[in-house]
Amino acid sequence: MPDSMNDFSERTILTTAAWPYANNHLHMGHIAGAYLPADIFSRFQRMRGHRVLMVSGSDSHGTPVTVTAENEGITPEDVFNRYHASFLDTFERLGISFDLFTSTNTKNHADVTQDFFLTLMNKGFLYETEQTLLFDPEVHRFLPDRYIEGTCPKCGSQEARGDQCDDCGSTLDALDLLNPRSKLSNATPVEKPSKHWFLKLSAFSKDISEWLIAKNNWKPQVKNLSLGMIGEELPDRSITRDLTWGVPIPLENYETKRIYVWFEAVIGYLSAAIEWSESERNKTGNPDIWKDWWMENDSESYYFVGKDNIPFHAIIWPAMLLGYGGLNLPTNVPANQYLMMSGTKASKSRGTAVWMPDVLDQFHPDAIRYVLTASMPETSDSDFTWAEFVRRNNDELVARWGNLVNRVLAMTHKNFDGKVPPAPVTAAPESTTLLAASQDAFLRTGQELDKIEIRKALNEIMEVAAAANKYLEDRAPWAALKNENGGQAHAGETLHIALQVISNLAILFSPILPFSSKQVWEMIGHTSEDSLADWLPQAIIEGATLPTAQPIFAKLDLDSVEDIFVNGAT
Ligand code: MF3
Ligand code: ZN
Repeated sequence: MPDSMNDFSERTILTTAAWPYANNHLHMGHIAGAYLPADIFSRFQRMRGHRVLMVSGSDSHGTPVTVTAENEGITPEDVFNRYHASFLDTFERLGISFDLFTSTNTKNHADVTQDFFLTLMNKGFLYETEQTLLFDPEVHRFLPDRYIEGTCPKCGSQEARGDQCDDCGSTLDALDLLNPRSKLSNATPVEKPSKHWFLKLSAFSKDISEWLIAKNNWKPQVKNLSLGMIGEELPDRSITRDLTWGVPIPLENYETKRIYVWFEAVIGYLSAAIEWSESERNKTGNPDIWKDWWMENDSESYYFVGKDNIPFHAIIWPAMLLGYGGLNLPTNVPANQYLMMSGTKASKSRGTAVWMPDVLDQFHPDAIRYVLTASMPETSDSDFTWAEFVRRNNDELVARWGNLVNRVLAMTHKNFDGKVPPAPVTAAPESTTLLAASQDAFLRTGQELDKIEIRKALNEIMEVAAAANKYLEDRAPWAALKNENGGQAHAGETLHIALQVISNLAILFSPILPFSSKQVWEMIGHTSEDSLADWLPQAIIEGATLPTAQPIFAKLDLDSVEDIFVNGAT
């Protein structure tokens, strides 16, 4: 990775985030874990002038979607349509700035997946073999792992699923479950042979290990977990299933089978870039431009995912890309840990989640973005509580940033006729120091954002806001104004400097708090032609008439918030 802050040449950056299963709404864990860091990183890199392509989409296949469909008595496609629409709405309201958020339920994705399959097959990286699988004799269907329940052979829990036991956390083989029963009919499944395609992952063990070992700037937990999983040799993996919802296998006589969801979902990163390239969203009109991101040697790619997705992005997808040939492997997989909801992993399937559409109905999007950034699980699991949400909103966002803006604007309107006071001829040392700190923050926080250390960057930006508040307290312009002997000039300097620092802060905050930064930007007298789009300080305009100021953030009351989200009142 080039040292971006000293190198002004344009970089070509693919930003992606895990494809959410379209079987329920998004929750806070998804946002804090993947979409918000991906968005902050992308917004920052765009401001630096780099060429960013940010893509992802709905994972429309897989048993999470079919199980939901069966429970509700509707088709998987209905389930997909409902939640895909919900995801698009959440991203829009929360300002997650995808260039394209598509889905795996497109013809383009099926075409790209089938080409991937055939290319790997023709290169000898796929083979077919017979497996023994569980079959439901009553409904005459092979049973995916999640359709089988039984007693856990490790801990005796009666609620284990064919793929894992949630009680003891073991990964299971469905054939090892004691007293297995089919979720479809309650019948006891029988063993039956079925032919399936396998990916020869074993062939890539050495190449992937060496590639991982050289990744010195990856999070240690991502690198170590992946290397640990490879061990001596990667086991081959089956990549087809006995199902009818999914991408068809591009060969004859496979009508009752589909490509396994995990094999095709990761291919979405490529198919989405191609779809964007061929669409009108791509303003260059060159349908092959996706190759700039996928085939140029010095292009970069970042995969924002939760820790449960690490093996797929740091091992299996890179192996598939090596096998296919000619496409770039991930530059980094900055996987996050979990956002815990009162001690348990925020999980769709266990009902411990807080749904984003509900959260967005209650709060300013930047209040949500602020709190989730401040408690982003970058290096360890972090705990989400409503008390902490309210505290961070009130004591940090409102008290430090919102109030700074409000106070300075109110005084400027009241005492300076709503016009930006002129710059001092010679600034006081404390004015120069504060101004310099707000300018230096561009370099330091920029380096942190580039390294995807987002909490650190936010802390530093908040420190500048705290210093600005202290500056105001120390210089007390409200007191100076009462002093007829030069008080007006003293207060004018204070407000001029404070407005300039607020302007710098609006830019620094804008990848994290895009909506409010824009509001602040306009309230301090920048016009719409002045750019908030570059990662550079911009001079405020002396004498500019400020529009009426409005408070942006509101204090929250914990009891009312808990009434809605804990006690379920509406
Ligand atoms: N749908 C999967 C999940 O929610 C993630 C898929 S990421 C992808 O865990 F890259 F494979 F699409
Ligand atoms: Zn168990």
